[in-house]
Amino acid sequence: MRKKIVAGNWKMNLSLEEAKTLAGELKVKMDQYKDTILEGSGNNIPEVVIFPPYLYLTGMIDLFVHDDGVSVGAQNCHHEESGAFTGEVAASMIHSVGASYVIIGHSERRSQFGEGDKLLAEKVKLALKNGLTPVFCCGEQLPEREAGKHFQVVADQLLHGVLWMEKDQLERVVIAYEPVWAIGTGKTASPDQAQEMHAHIRKLIRDSYGEQIAENISILYGGSCNAKNAGELFSNPDVDGGLIGGASLKVEDFFTIIKRRQENG
Ligand code: 13P
Repeated sequence: MRKKIVAGNWKMNLSLEEAKTLAGELKVKMDQYKDTILEGSGNNIPEVVIFPPYLYLTGMIDLFVHDDGVSVGAQNCHHEESGAFTGEVAASMIHSVGASYVIIGHSERRSQFGEGDKLLAEKVKLALKNGLTPVFCCGEQLPEREAGKHFQVVADQLLHGVLWMEKDQLERVVIAYEPVWAIGTGKTASPDQAQEMHAHIRKLIRDSYGEQIAENISILYGGSCNAKNAGELFSNPDVDGGLIGGASLKVEDFFTIIKRRQENG
């Protein structure tokens, strides 16, 4: 069953106090939302995931207990199991503190930290081995889109990053399409551009793994998704949710995005 997911990537933002305030407000809103708004309206509540900086993982995991409907994940993990890697964090450690997701291949990691296909595939392997759900990011740069290469760029990223694995592994992966030109720029992909790329991604999966897994995999959109445009983006059949950056730091905006996901089925 395909999951509807709204995820907040906090990136390198917020002090501990600010993080606690944001998460506390989100928790209250989620509790009220589940108790009142959704009473009797079926079970299409989106899964909410927050990706705080590593330092705040345990605090957030302790806060979101039981059935708040909020999961916690890390923004990255290292590509080795353990060892002399000063300053790094292993997938097994992330799992051991109770996190359930990890973002892999975010364009900021690819471009600013030189993370390439081979290394990202190693990270995905370790994430799965350690019981984490990888949120694997893909997306083209503006010149690649302008040159008409965006479908091929995304296909290559996916082929190297995740489409080599066994079916039962791929079933545990979430994909996020984040066009680089839309990240943090205020320039969102149009609903048609998002739908067209998500359909392309689903077709790649269908061609290699068959209909059932293609239908079940969740594909999120990221890149200047906000309270205003989320509804239109989520109304597309292949856009299963969002990976939200800036707007996830404002509880009202993030919560509106969660509601837009739920309203759009
Ligand atoms: P913005 O929503 O700030 O554009 O960031 C998107 C993103 O990079 C989420 O991972």
